[in-house]
Amino acid sequence: MISNPFIITGDIPSAYFCDRKEESKNVIQMLTNGENICLMSPRRMGKSKLVQFCYDQEPLANEYYCFYIDIYHTTSLREFTYTFGRQVFSTLRNQSQKMVLWFVQALKSLNANFGFDPTTGMPTFSLSLGDVNNPEFTLEEIFKALEKADKPCIVCFDEFQQIANYPEKNIEALLRGHIQHLGNTNFIFSGSSRHLLTQMFHSYARPFYNSTSTLSLEAIKLEEYTLFATHWFEQYSKHIDPLLIGQVYQIMESNTYYVQKTLHELFENTPTGETCDTNMLPRLIDGMIEEQSVSYKQLLSFLPDRHKEVLFAIANEGKAEKIMGAQFIHRYRLPSASAVQSAVRKLMETDYITYYDGVYSIPDVLFRMYLKRIGGKE
Ligand SMILES: Nc1ncnc2c1ncn2[C@@H]1O[C@H](COP(=O)(O)OP(=O)(O)O)[C@@H](O)[C@H]1O
Ligand SMILES: [Mg+2]
Repeated sequence: MISNPFIITGDIPSAYFCDRKEESKNVIQMLTNGENICLMSPRRMGKSKLVQFCYDQEPLANEYYCFYIDIYHTTSLREFTYTFGRQVFSTLRNQSQKMVLWFVQALKSLNANFGFDPTTGMPTFSLSLGDVNNPEFTLEEIFKALEKADKPCIVCFDEFQQIANYPEKNIEALLRGHIQHLGNTNFIFSGSSRHLLTQMFHSYARPFYNSTSTLSLEAIKLEEYTLFATHWFEQYSKHIDPLLIGQVYQIMESNTYYVQKTLHELFENTPTGETCDTNMLPRLIDGMIEEQSVSYKQLLSFLPDRHKEVLFAIANEGKAEKIMGAQFIHRYRLPSASAVQSAVRKLMETDYITYYDGVYSIPDVLFRMYLKRIGGKE
């Protein structure tokens, strides 16, 4: 048994994965039916883990090659292609000697050094970013190789909205051009920026328009999480009042990560044989905010004062409406409507704030608590 069943870092084995029965069934069904999926939700709701969970289920686990490519840190088509190629290689290396050789041979445009590790016998592939001289061409080679694989392929590009920030202007059209011709490969495009993804997949004029089925990942239901959490407390001869789980769920606004993290801490602080003490919750949350405060401080230090003022104002309101109106501007002593407008645009780009139906808010609940606490005073 692992020391804490509420896993907050790294892979989550299926046994420790809460619910997502319907969602995973849907995803698997759509993919095996040949559909492509756009998977969206706010950050840390569980998209990436859901994809990994689906990859571990049949028929994806054994009858498909499944590739997961996180492109959050990529900034150009070249890096995208490099990351994609490397990930396909390392996934195949763990699964099929035959396919890995085949894949490397298919990438003719690269001068990659291919060999075998003398101690492990595993194939090695020394490729650096600089070797990708012609990303468009290499990308085509990768897609062609997947088309000819001996099993169907699933490719997930996680944090896909990132491609909108590449300097090259034709990326969407380029990718769409490839994807629509592939018969052996299906895709998951997932990401946290509803704003960017909706524009990309739902605007008539954009290349990806109507090319995918959209799946908005919602929070895990309280009843499911309660069953999951009480099960694991009991398995370790500990007890927890379901009302406390409900309280955590409410405070953390049903965000999967923060609920899981709080339960992780509650579990940690409950001795075997005892019942989780409800009174420790405020202290635990203080601790969580404290733990993050260094990175929050740093993040704020990068923001111009004008943006910070607006951020604090929105944090203070919780759900902020009419923020360009005279009343709001006056209440928070903001310089002008146009200053608010430009701050809001910048803050939305980085997802520090979100906008929905006339309301601005800070989606990260812990960050919001932190901002409210320091209240504009640093
Ligand atoms: N089904 C689940 N059961 C338990 N914990 C989960 C589950 N899904 C997500 N988590 C927790 O939430 C965290 C964030 O999930 P992740 O998939 O990375 O979110 P996203 O990709 O939407 O930002 C995970 O690290 C894990 O701690
Ligand atoms: Mg993710």
